[in-house]
Amino acid sequence: MLILHKNNNINGLMDADAIIIGGGACGLMCAVQAGFLGKKVIILEKAPQPGAKILISGGGRCNFTNLFASDEQFISQNKHFLKSAFMQWTVEDTISFFETYGITGKEKTLGQLFPEGKNAKDVVSVFTDLCRDLDQQIRCDANITEVNKTGQGYQVIYEKGGKTLQLETAKLVIATGGLPIPKMGATDFALRFAKKHSLNIVETAPALVPLTITGKDESWYAQLSGNAVFCEVSNEKISFEENLLFTHWGLSGPAVLQISSYWRPGEVINIDLLPRQNMTALINEERNNNGKTLLSTLFNRLYTRKFTEAMGKFLPVDKPVAALTKAEIELVHHTIHLFKVKPAGDKGYDKAEVMRGGIHTNELSSKTLACKKLPGVYFGGECVDVTGWLGGYNFQWAWASGYVIAQNI
Ligand code: FDA
Repeated sequence: MLILHKNNNINGLMDADAIIIGGGACGLMCAVQAGFLGKKVIILEKAPQPGAKILISGGGRCNFTNLFASDEQFISQNKHFLKSAFMQWTVEDTISFFETYGITGKEKTLGQLFPEGKNAKDVVSVFTDLCRDLDQQIRCDANITEVNKTGQGYQVIYEKGGKTLQLETAKLVIATGGLPIPKMGATDFALRFAKKHSLNIVETAPALVPLTITGKDESWYAQLSGNAVFCEVSNEKISFEENLLFTHWGLSGPAVLQISSYWRPGEVINIDLLPRQNMTALINEERNNNGKTLLSTLFNRLYTRKFTEAMGKFLPVDKPVAALTKAEIELVHHTIHLFKVKPAGDKGYDKAEVMRGGIHTNELSSKTLACKKLPGVYFGGECVDVTGWLGGYNFQWAWASGYVIAQNI
């Protein structure tokens, strides 16, 4: 059965200025900021509760922004696109917004802010409490299946409680996120909508995602599962200095998640397993101090025992440092500072933190995030081709884009 409601008098309760599809980080911020401006919106959210990804973010603690966020930490076909949004809604705005509602940011590392003494649940509560106080409706378990263009605007068709319902609106905000974690309700709605209306899409792929190793090397990596090494991972485009984590299927940890966003199948990544230090210098120093020291003993000061053991496959770890030949020292140096890995693939959207690519920014106004070809339609958050590094950057984009759209609907 198709039940018709007009959004200018939904159930006789309120007028609404816009419909927001997706009650995640961007949609919730948009609803709250619109409420501050006296605008009424309705959020339609597929999941049983809003903000599901906020709840699992940062291991349930929500790394809600980054002190250093700028256009430098984002991947997009147009690197400059987000500048306007980031000027309109700054990191300081995020910090003071959350402070106003009882959440103080504490820096963990590399500018990453987490709620002090609170968690991701409290972050979501800020939005749900504000939506309640501002009379912004959040309709959960509402799966949007179709949006059609009408004379005056858009007809939004959604399924809720076994019924097919419909709303009409002049302004439509698409904040349905990306493809990661399909079991949490991620959909390709934004991409399908864009295709239907012939909008350009930048090819999408999992990003901030662990990388897999298969074939003859698999067991070498598997034996190190659970071991972490501080390193610098790099390719021709970029480098990151953070921890790398070995797993039974390949590589994870922040350093690998970061480089994964810049990695393409078939490419090799370089790993410096001793950044900021010089392996040859360490060996020579040890040769001067105590030449009888085994290379394995020297390694055990730098790495886990398991790692040292595994390195025995490539290096003469059982030799005293004084007995190492020039060629062997060079081999140790080269292996430690330029360890090359050719991942077989990535762990896909099940394990990715974000989606790379999305709605091409040339379809949108950078100032308002309005779609140039579809009057009244706005795109924000992860569905747009703006992908941040690990570390709170993606939420900063989601909050900023939600804020900007709220000013313009
Ligand atoms: P978001 O995914 O938040 O919201 C989209 C909403 O739309 C969802 O609630 C979805 O159910 C709904 N939806 C989709 N299709 C629909 C349809 N057809 N009908 C109705 N509703 C629909 N970032 C960061 O900065 N710091 C961090 O700590 C983390 N941690 C983290 C951990 C993990 C495990 C993941 C997977 C991701 C992160 N992220 C992160 C990334 C961050 O969660 C992400 O960038 C933002 O949530 C994106 O906000 P959006 O509002 O765009 O999408």
